[in-house]
Amino acid sequence: MQPLPGFRDFLPNDCATRNYVFARWREVARRYGFVEWDGPVLEPTALYTKKSGPEIVAQLFNFIDKGDREVAMRPELTPTLARVVAAHDREFKKPLKWFSIPQCFRYEKQQRGRLREHYQFNADVIGEASVEADVELIALCVDLLRAFGFTAEDVVVRISDREFWIDFLRTHNLPEAQWQEILQAIDKSEREPREKTASRLGPLAEPIFKILDEGGQSEKLDRLLASLKNRGMAEFVKIDLGIVRGLAYYSGVVFEAFDRGGKLRALAGGGRYDNLIQQLSDGAVSLPALGFAMGDVVLGELIGETPVAKKKMEEAIADHQNLDIYVVIAKEERRADALAQIQSLRDRGHRVDFPLTPMKVGKQFQAAEQLGARLAILFGDEWPQVKVKDLKTGDQKLVPQTELLNDSTTMSTLRGRTNSLPPDLRDSSPRPE
Ligand code: HAM
Repeated sequence: MQPLPGFRDFLPNDCATRNYVFARWREVARRYGFVEWDGPVLEPTALYTKKSGPEIVAQLFNFIDKGDREVAMRPELTPTLARVVAAHDREFKKPLKWFSIPQCFRYEKQQRGRLREHYQFNADVIGEASVEADVELIALCVDLLRAFGFTAEDVVVRISDREFWIDFLRTHNLPEAQWQEILQAIDKSEREPREKTASRLGPLAEPIFKILDEGGQSEKLDRLLASLKNRGMAEFVKIDLGIVRGLAYYSGVVFEAFDRGGKLRALAGGGRYDNLIQQLSDGAVSLPALGFAMGDVVLGELIGETPVAKKKMEEAIADHQNLDIYVVIAKEERRADALAQIQSLRDRGHRVDFPLTPMKVGKQFQAAEQLGARLAILFGDEWPQVKVKDLKTGDQKLVPQTELLNDSTTMSTLRGRTNSLPPDLRDSSPRPE
């Protein structure tokens, strides 16, 4: 029995990876003052058919529910956000800085970096028209990538402006009805043979290729770049008018993050959508808005291919998962004493395991090692003392069992293990003092 195509089982290692990714996302979002929210997994299909654009609508997981409603699993979060913000407009002071980690569903062809479900970190700013908000979001995107250990040699954020292209199309007197088609063609131009793009662009092919090859003038993008430079992020970003984004609702600055090698699909993408809230609320609420999403699938691939990022993740996961203590029950008559002690250690927040049924001592030490335990505490002939063995250094000593919880060397070994890690890798669950 296999999962459906494009869907994943999350075995313990996959869950550990997912938790690690989510923890970094949450940490950095909070550093930027974003607060977490969420919406429903199922929405009316019309929420997406209205404004997201043909590509995403073709990829909807949609059906008719038992109440005859046309519904769809969310392919993205932005339309839900626009709906929620319009409905609760008066309850919150602007600008809103909200983040969320939804699981999204798109019925697309399964390929490298693309599945039928994925998790996305979304960050959006609602109610701020200034370009400083665009800068803040791009900076957040860069810092999220840095939190995984990536440098400017590993990743790049390519920034563009749809307004630049819309001005261009206006100057060339192209009817508004054709704008989306041209923007889609520019979006696809990098992945398509030139002749195919040229035939989609028609008479505009020549001037558009000139801009794509040689760049264009945009005062807004120059200002944005200067501001990112001021934040020390210049080497992570690049102006690139070839980015216009596939989704139809974007209206201004847009950006996408990629691996430098250009081997993978986009790690993240987003931009300004100043008209979406107004359009989805039929004019009831109008607010400038911008945001982006970073997916877990491509990110996971790039972490796997980048030694520094991979090591950072493995260390953090090991620290999070490994046991503090494995209790070795060498004499079965000591089992009840051992269990009483195990309970006290767990009450203090230590991660403790032990053999549920009688087992040879050698096997128990093997289990301790496999589970990454830092200490083994042996309940056996030495009773009422217990033997404490540091499984890393091999040091061992006898401690009276009544003193175990107060034994400073034993407890400092455990504390040191977590505190020696940089703050962003530390387990955030409460640790015993
Ligand atoms: P998007 O570019 O469609 O934007 O998706 C954002 C990211 O989600 C992509 O860069 C990619 O990493 C990941 N992703 C998308 N589809 C898949 C898939 N089928 N499998 C795996 N990963 C995928 C949006 O969704 C916008 N709503 C983002 C946004 C938020 N704009 C404003 N606020």
